[in-house]
Formats: sequence, structure tokens, C-alpha cells
Amino acid sequence: MKGIILSGGHGTRLYPLTKVTSKQLLPVYNKPMIMYPLETLLKAGIRDILIIVAPDHAGDYLKLLGSGKEYGARFSYEVQDKPEGLAQAFLIGKEFIKGDNVCMILGDNIFEDDVSKTIRKFKSGAQVFAKKVSDPERFGVVKFDDKMKAIQIEEKPKKFLSKYAVTGLYVYDKQIVQVARSLKPSGRGELEITDVNQRYLEQGQLKVQVLDGDWIDAGTFESLYRATSLVRKKQQKK
Ligand code: TTP
Repeated sequence: MKGIILSGGHGTRLYPLTKVTSKQLLPVYNKPMIMYPLETLLKAGIRDILIIVAPDHAGDYLKLLGSGKEYGARFSYEVQDKPEGLAQAFLIGKEFIKGDNVCMILGDNIFEDDVSKTIRKFKSGAQVFAKKVSDPERFGVVKFDDKMKAIQIEEKPKKFLSKYAVTGLYVYDKQIVQVARSLKPSGRGELEITDVNQRYLEQGQLKVQVLDGDWIDAGTFESLYRATSLVRKKQQKK
């Protein structure tokens, strides 16, 4: 299993914090934000990790994370020139993926649950993780039937679909590069990860696990504050 941390984007919702640095390098309590998704991958036994960054602060990521040796891992880096969608990661990373299974995590997503068992068990198809939220219209949303089988998935639905947001952690099998290649940019000009999940769903190959613990997409002032406060609480309990 290979790993990708997608850490590009503009971070406009966090201006002016992101005027001089990248969102995912901002502190969340005692560590830069990206260290949390990195830990999620390392915990799942993933050692070969591609870090995709925006051009502006690429050097800072290298300085922070280096070769990966310190973590018993190997890190590679690629630049995403423009934020043209989450699914573009699989085109940028196609040489890196080289027909293996791949687990992608967003550089601003913090997970309280231990998802390593599910990731280690993964064989084929697609595996995503959902969390019940109060503002599902901000995310990709998944609807379940009464047996909790995923039946519909939609990006930022205008009409209420369900309260389950698809979180920023995705596991795909070797079909992923082919699927990403076949995508067309959406109305907002992005290659949408929801379209990828939709393809796997249509083929009956999408599994969705509902998370119990906290999940924070730390991209707003409010959620960045919540993330810091969650980590602080957990550290103090130790
Ligand atoms: P967003 O939070 O949707 O975008 P953003 O980080 O640019 O922030 P804002 O909306 O405030 O301008 O992105 C989610 C995560 O995915 C975040 O970690 C950035 C990353 N991302 C990329 O690396 N490349 C992309 O093309 C996109 C769309 C997002």
C-alpha cells in the first residue's frame, strides 16, 4: 500500500494566516497540521509516501519532513501547480502509484479514530470513511440504505441527502489512475474525488466505514481552533 498526503490548495478561508505559509504547516497545538495525517498513514503501516504540495512553500515541507528516514519511511514530493481537484493527485502521482493500492489523506484532516485495521485489511475496490456532521452541504455526502450500505454519493448536495460527510481519507485499488484519467472537470473546474467514489459505487465496489471518534477538517478558523483544543485535551489525558 502506497500513501499520498495531498497538501496543496490556497487555504483562502484562513487568510491572512495562509498569506505567508501553507495551511497544512500551521500549528495544531504542538505540531504542524500535516503531522497528524502523516501519523495516520504511518500507523497503518504505510512507509512509501508521496507528499503533494503547492509551489509556494514546497521547500518548507522538505525542511520539515525530509527524506522520511526519521520516521522509518520514504517520502517523495511532487508539486501541484494549481489546485485542480483532489482526484488530480492520482494523475500527479501515477508514476509513484505504479499499479499498487493507494491510501490518500488530505493534509488538513485530523482523525481521532484508529483506522489502521481497515487500511491494512484493504484488498480491492475503494474504501472511504464517513462521519455524521451538522453541516453536510459543505462536503461530499453519502446516503445509506437501512443496512448501512452506501447507495448514493453527491458533492455538496443542494437538497438534503444525508448527514454523513465523506472524510478526507480514501483507499483505492490499482484501477484508480485509470478512473482519474477518465474524469472530466466539474463546474468548478476540478477533478472531483466524489466522481471517483461515484464510479466505484456504480460498480458495487465502494465500501464506507462510519467513524465513531472526532474528525476535523481544519480549514476554517473555527475548525482549526477545535483541532487544537481536541489535541490539547488528548495530550493532557496522557
Ligand atoms: P479545500 O479546503 O477545499 O481547499 P483549500 O485548502 O485551498 O482551502 P480554501 O477553500 O480555504 O481556499 O481543500 C481540502 C484539502 O485538499 C486541503 O488540504 C488542500 C487540498 N487540496 C489540494 O491539495 N489540491 C487541490 O486541488 C484541492 C482542491 C485541495
